[in-house]
Amino acid sequence: MQTETLLLGQTLRFTQDPFIDTPTNAIRHEAQGAVLIRGDTIAEVGKACDLIPRARHANMIRYPDGLILPGFVDAHAHYPQTAIIASWGKRLIDWLNDYTFPEETRFNDPAYAGTIADRYLDLVTAHGTTSVASFCTSHPASVEALFQAAASRDMALVAGKTCMDRNAPYALLDTAQSAYDDSKSLLTRWHGNGRARYAITPRFSPTSTPDQLQALGALWGEHPDCLMQTHISEQQEECAWIADLFPKARDYLDTYEAAGLIGPNALWGHAIWLTDRERARIRETGGTLVHCPTSNTFIGSGLFNVAARRAEGLPLALATDTGGGSSFSMLRTMAAAYEIGQLTGTALHPAQLLWLATEAGAHALNLHPEIGTLEPGTKADLTILDLASTPVIAQRANQAEDIWQALFPTIMMGDDRAIAATWIAGQQQP
Ligand code: GUN
Ligand code: ZN
Repeated sequence: MQTETLLLGQTLRFTQDPFIDTPTNAIRHEAQGAVLIRGDTIAEVGKACDLIPRARHANMIRYPDGLILPGFVDAHAHYPQTAIIASWGKRLIDWLNDYTFPEETRFNDPAYAGTIADRYLDLVTAHGTTSVASFCTSHPASVEALFQAAASRDMALVAGKTCMDRNAPYALLDTAQSAYDDSKSLLTRWHGNGRARYAITPRFSPTSTPDQLQALGALWGEHPDCLMQTHISEQQEECAWIADLFPKARDYLDTYEAAGLIGPNALWGHAIWLTDRERARIRETGGTLVHCPTSNTFIGSGLFNVAARRAEGLPLALATDTGGGSSFSMLRTMAAAYEIGQLTGTALHPAQLLWLATEAGAHALNLHPEIGTLEPGTKADLTILDLASTPVIAQRANQAEDIWQALFPTIMMGDDRAIAATWIAGQQQP
């Protein structure tokens, strides 16, 4: 018989996309809720008084100040940048050349890659994140290291070899052919292996020749169920560089589109400075814009307008973009999204922030409904928030008149101390 665990606390579930329905109508909240985990799966969710009598043999864990949620999904990160997070004073291209690329060269050592992969996954799970889509480096060993580390935690993870054949240090360069061959052999080994999913990963058009983009577009054409992750229109200097490097392209998106790198399983990191044509084309072809708010302020890239993009019907997800982003925490990332929302004219509702950090990310990674929900039959990947994790948060939560007033101070001021527990595939993480 499989182990049963009954988690008792408040629960929040989405019944609708809170950008479509009114946020408060889009959720179901139980003040005295329960989630029954059987093996690695959510078996039941409901009121504590209904589930307790039915789960007499289950281990019972009470979270008195706890809010049980689907685990956070970070839809764009760079695990190899763990050790250079919060590096001072540069804009994107100089930040890449001065901090990122030198650090990424260290990943030709599989032992170093393994150490950082473990450190990174320990950090994200301590912050309540149960799935990520991460870039690796150009070294296949960096991809192996991350997938191995995720498999040992039974974690659903999207990753890919970061392909670059120009405008980067020689030690990081591959070629069009080796990018195709290495990506193909990694995706054959890892895509759909347990909970792993592969993302074909051209870093961004400035570091890939048109030949390399073509080779990766061909590979995606052969494996359309894989994801494709990249960067687009993050910083204005970068967009100007694209115009120099690709004089015949209509715009930044066209550099990818001309190579077949556009489609429903695409994750477009940043996407701040897209033109009307680019946004219309992404809406037509599918794919998700990934908002990276702490990175966009830290590197000084610009203000992504969540409300405007959702009003245009574009799918969105939320991400830390570590180490361009300044935190591993999706709580801090939601707070930054809220602040940027204020600067762009819309106070995002806590339900919308939470949805972006959970279910929207699950859709973007093509992992819904396996993750991003509390529905019975899905994987028990859960985050339990402590809504009174520090004195200042507790005194705000104590005055709350509804769940949103209780939750919002944790979104704005919470960090890893607000994570009471993280469960992955029915296992509480250490
Ligand atoms: N654009 C290309 N590479 C990167 C990266 O590593 N981080 C960020 N933020 N933007 C990029
Ligand atoms: Zn990035």
